[in-house]
Amino acid sequence: QSRIYRAGVFGRRPVVPVEPKALEAAARARMSDVAWAYVAGGAGRQRTVQANRDAFDRHRIVPRVLVDVERRDTSVRLFGRPLPAPLLFAPIGVLELAHRDADHAVARAARALGLPLVISSQASVPMEDVARTLGDAPRWFQLYWSKDDDVVDSFVSRAEAIGSEALVVTLDTHVLGWRTRDLDLAYLPFARGEGIAQYTSDPAFRRLVEARKPSDEPTSRPTPSAVRALHSMARHYPGRTRDNLRSPLPRAAVETFLDVFSRSSLTWADLARLRERTSLPIVLKGIQHPGDAALALEHGVDGIVVSNHGGRQVDGAIGSLDALPAVVDVIGGRVPVLFDSGVRSGADVVTALALGATAVLVGRPWVYGLALAGADGARAVMQHLWAELDLTMALSGVRSVDEIGPHLLTASS
Ligand code: FNR
Repeated sequence: QSRIYRAGVFGRRPVVPVEPKALEAAARARMSDVAWAYVAGGAGRQRTVQANRDAFDRHRIVPRVLVDVERRDTSVRLFGRPLPAPLLFAPIGVLELAHRDADHAVARAARALGLPLVISSQASVPMEDVARTLGDAPRWFQLYWSKDDDVVDSFVSRAEAIGSEALVVTLDTHVLGWRTRDLDLAYLPFARGEGIAQYTSDPAFRRLVEARKPSDEPTSRPTPSAVRALHSMARHYPGRTRDNLRSPLPRAAVETFLDVFSRSSLTWADLARLRERTSLPIVLKGIQHPGDAALALEHGVDGIVVSNHGGRQVDGAIGSLDALPAVVDVIGGRVPVLFDSGVRSGADVVTALALGATAVLVGRPWVYGLALAGADGARAVMQHLWAELDLTMALSGVRSVDEIGPHLLTASS
């Protein structure tokens, strides 16, 4: 953080605003209405987006003084790998909406900082290309569990081949939430062929596309089967389907994607198959109920992410930070408990760690940085969070992440 301060002392403005609201406002001004609605928006009446923030506001840090904090260490270990800070780039799909360099830009930011990038199943760039840009930097892969077993197997093989250090299985998005803002703008990214590069670059998926339709020429009018496919995925999105069929990709690929995207019939029993399939650590993302945390342990997972997908899925769901303590309690230190949804500052990171998180994933803030200044912007946002984390530790009398605990917090009235 001293570099950030020094730059300020010498009159150099930060690459992107440091103040979270200003960052958001600057990104809003830069992004198209569709991009803004998709990235910033949540489900329904946005109550869970708000709950995620309100939950942080109910906790206050109680600093200690006269502790020698001259030397501080923000590093943590996750799945055997030392990380310089308890921060990860959350998996975010459809980044082409925010910046044309999309996943490549984020990979450059992650590489510069040495923080893991969780590569999304809905990335705008195939994972092999992202991996090349990442160089030696740590990467995880986030899986949406397809209806098609071959696609699941193929994604897992590819994730292994690019050196993923963990497999994050996202459980809270087997159907898209009721995204009111996207609905009003008739934006269903996948139906437009955006964010499906992992699929169109996948051999198992391509076989499905070919089996479906011999010619992959785009047609000018939606075919009846395309309309049916959209209806079957999006039957809750009345009146939107035709607009969304203006896809730049061969229609058969989009149709196939919509058919196989995700499996709502998934149950705990299916995890066993994945466990046999890969030796990568399996991390379940989207756990909010302590009962599910217990089941996750029973099923031998290696970690969980307490998350409500940034309030994008169930409107009215519990604020993610409010869900954290009970889950931490059940897990009892047996596997790492990661956290996301609502982290906007380094002080927030300290709060989540104090409530028992091992590390946090950051979502929208770095997407805003990306929209404003590409790789440099995404990197600056994470640096700001990291710097504030370090300062908050110093000013709270804490030398290492291990020393952050519930004793640092009090409830705010
Ligand atoms: C997401 N998220 C997400 N999660 C996931 O597992 N796979 C994905 O492809 C995406 N895509 C995605 C796109 C956009 C635009 C957003 C905002 C979020 C959820 C993400 O990983 C994370 O859980 C939340 O973003 C965390 O909340 P905050 O930090 O945005 O409040």
